[in-house]
Amino acid sequence: MRPFRLEGKPARLSHFYPATVLVVGVSSAGRINFMPVVWHSALSFEPPLFGVWISPKRFTHEMLQSAPSFSVSMHPQEQWRQIHAIGTTSGRRVCKVKELGLSFRRGGELDVPILQGAYAAYELEKQSQIKTGDHDLFVGRLRALWEDESAFAGEALDPKAVSPLLYFGKYLYGRPCAQTMRPSEV
Ligand SMILES: Cc1cc2nc3c(=O)[nH]c(=O)nc-3n(C[C@H](O)[C@H](O)[C@H](O)COP(=O)(O)O)c2cc1C
Repeated sequence: MRPFRLEGKPARLSHFYPATVLVVGVSSAGRINFMPVVWHSALSFEPPLFGVWISPKRFTHEMLQSAPSFSVSMHPQEQWRQIHAIGTTSGRRVCKVKELGLSFRRGGELDVPILQGAYAAYELEKQSQIKTGDHDLFVGRLRALWEDESAFAGEALDPKAVSPLLYFGKYLYGRPCAQTMRPSEV
């Protein structure tokens, strides 16, 4: 390692990758749209809150000004080409559902589209929008969740059953190693 002096914006801000790529789904004014996010986090357990950071440049950001809810879904690495295509096309220019031939299901509790192929998904009611520099944090309250039970062993994801899609930056994708470790005292 060597130190780098920061003059303004860093050349990249991806040293903490790999991170899972999730997909945000939103429905508003008769439009359905999806975009991948790698900037995301659980924010609270009780109440259950989950957040995604979205740039105001995104059409999804515009849709989220009027949409009361959104979905966040987790996908296997096999879906990387489709998710890459969703993340390099804007719903402002094309209808991604038609153009990319996307399949989705409707949420059970909220009016949200959930991209097909997910091994887990959240239906989130938009709770707040917080400006954090050049991205806005959209905080959603969990109203329903979906999971493919075969992807989970106990309460943890089983990497032998499913390989979540990972992002390394600069359009480089991958998957986690299936080997896991757990301290014997647990
Ligand atoms: C793997 C990947 C991860 C991304 N993560 C984010 C993110 O966390 N936040 C964000 O604002 N944009 C992110 N983007 C960019 C948007 O997904 C992309 O600009 C997308 O085309 C926006 O679509 P929209 O204009 O229809 O909303 C990501 C793109 C890719 C390919």
